[in-house]
Amino acid sequence: MERSLVILKPDATKRKLLGELISRFEKKNMEITDAKMEVISRDIAEAHYSHVKHLPFYDDMIAYMTSSPSLIMVVKGEEAIRVIRSMIGKTNTFEAQQGTIRGDYGLHLFQNLIHASDSIESAEIEIQRFFGVQERER
Ligand SMILES: Nc1ncnc2c1ncn2[C@@H]1O[C@H](COP(=O)(O)OP(=O)(O)OP(=O)(O)O)[C@@H](O)[C@H]1O
Ligand SMILES: [Mg+2]
Repeated sequence: MERSLVILKPDATKRKLLGELISRFEKKNMEITDAKMEVISRDIAEAHYSHVKHLPFYDDMIAYMTSSPSLIMVVKGEEAIRVIRSMIGKTNTFEAQQGTIRGDYGLHLFQNLIHASDSIESAEIEIQRFFGVQERER
């Protein structure tokens, strides 16, 4: 079984879509093994998004990610990395297909509702980043 670090971002929380999004994962037989509501700190957000630091939207995106609470989760399941990435859809919500989370609910370019790890290696780094030693192995 694979694990993914999934973040339901501030726009998902504000728009009261958390239940709807969790429900999609549960229906796909994914298991939430850990979760916490938190305003992500600037340090953690910058580490998490260092790969887009050079891009023009970066400052506004970090301000948004640290503006209000996110639901941060560890989600486990068969082929979880690939399955969850296909469930969330393309980064640009305006290009994301209907039927994906971003395609169905996304209203803004970088306020795109959800993050999910893009490889097994990055999932383990991200789980450590957000949960550290407290993350429960199940
Ligand atoms: N072209 C873009 N225009 C605006 N925002 C962007 C663009 N590309 C990326 N972003 C923002 O930076 C974040 C990280 O980009 P990345 O390339 O890792 O996409 P992603 O893997 O689909 O998103 P995430 O890492 O949040 O799951 C995106 O979620 C989005 O908020
Ligand atoms: Mg990414």
